Amino acid sequence: MSDRDNAIADPRTYSDEDRIHAILKDLRDNDPVHWTAPEGFRPYWAITKYADILEIERQNEIFHNEPRSTLMNIQTENDLAAMWGGPDPKTGRVSPFRTLIDMDGEDHRAYRGLTQAWFMPGNLKKLEARMHELAKRYVDLMMEKGPECDFAREIAVYYPLHVIMSILGVPESDEPLMLRLTQELFGGADPDMKRQDAEGTVGTNTIMDFFVYFNKMTAERRACPGEDLASVIANAKLKGCPLGDLETASYYIIVATAGHDTTSSTIAGGLRALIENPDQLAKLKADPSLLGSAVDEMIRWATPVQHFMRTAMEERELRGKTIKKGDALQLLYISGNRDEEAFPEPFKFRVDREPNRHVAFGYGAHVCLGQHLAKMEAKAFFKELLGRLQSIELAGESKRIQSTFVTGLKTLPVRYQLTA
Ligand code: HEM
Repeated sequence: MSDRDNAIADPRTYSDEDRIHAILKDLRDNDPVHWTAPEGFRPYWAITKYADILEIERQNEIFHNEPRSTLMNIQTENDLAAMWGGPDPKTGRVSPFRTLIDMDGEDHRAYRGLTQAWFMPGNLKKLEARMHELAKRYVDLMMEKGPECDFAREIAVYYPLHVIMSILGVPESDEPLMLRLTQELFGGADPDMKRQDAEGTVGTNTIMDFFVYFNKMTAERRACPGEDLASVIANAKLKGCPLGDLETASYYIIVATAGHDTTSSTIAGGLRALIENPDQLAKLKADPSLLGSAVDEMIRWATPVQHFMRTAMEERELRGKTIKKGDALQLLYISGNRDEEAFPEPFKFRVDREPNRHVAFGYGAHVCLGQHLAKMEAKAFFKELLGRLQSIELAGESKRIQSTFVTGLKTLPVRYQLTA
């Protein structure tokens, strides 16, 4: 156990960008496959090089998502397992959810296949007009609030929430509840996001609330199907049978949660990067055809999902280290996306970076299902914003969420002028 290992697993480290990047650069340079044994955690390998992350994700029959798909301390693992009578005796999974993220092999392919086509660009095209309408609505709101607002809290958080909820079919009146639950689930370690209830266990009541809400939704969509994604999921069949309650609720939960905070973080982190790099903002305004590459760079820059984990099913060698069967590996996307061997000048934000094969969406069998949707949302927003933006500057200090998993800015005060 070392101070550095404790820091790698400490959510507070990730709210300090300079500190976390210094630790990760040191690991990339000196110990890229690092046995990490933080206090209060089961030990694991921290994987910090871009090429190694791809290598592990590529071999998804050997490196499984189940049973340990994200980093949790032992206390949280025990609390989660106790809540539902886990861990699962067959797989060792402690989470009460069984989402795509927790599946492997045949099962994963079958469940992913149920909605894969829905998330492809061809199908998403039908959402384009609606997305532009929503982007306009939120830039209008920004204008109303002007000349100053907290962009992260007042704009970035609501626009993707609204997009994903309308896709799922959650009514607008329930969006504040969904927002609270998502933030509690992901920002669980951040004191500003924590649930103020007696239990004090991270996330357990939040998880129950999600289940109650989505089980009701399944019953409604089965009785009366509509056009929304929830109806696709509720009425999906595998080998002729409907999905189990756990898998159905977990499917909504992954879409609702994965599709929301991640995209908010990209938009807020992207705007801050543009403000801090005025030459890049000017370049993008002068040439809107750069919007696609600019959005990719914003996603690399923000890397909202900082890691996922895998467990080795067989012994393997990696950079001279022996990964034993059963060992867990943390794929640090946040580090891979700043790897000097994969990106020239990785600490420079460049709207025209090409190629930009970042790992912010992961890679391989589990690669982000919503990547096209996320890019489409960010593009629609910045297209609207940049077309109307006269000037913008920071109006105070921005702060990052304390989390080892999904992160981003929780506050971004800005001062600006927009045209109608
Ligand atoms: C910029 C925004 C986003 C980022 C950075 C992001 C990142 C990721 C990452 C890193 C993974 C895991 C990949 C792996 O293990 O290789 C993932 C999986 C996933 N994402 Fe996203 N995501 C974003 C937006 C979205 C959106 C908008 C949705 C829409 C619903 C979504 C839905 C999913 C789903 C369902 C999975 C699980 C896929 C699987 O395990 O097969 N994501 N995402």
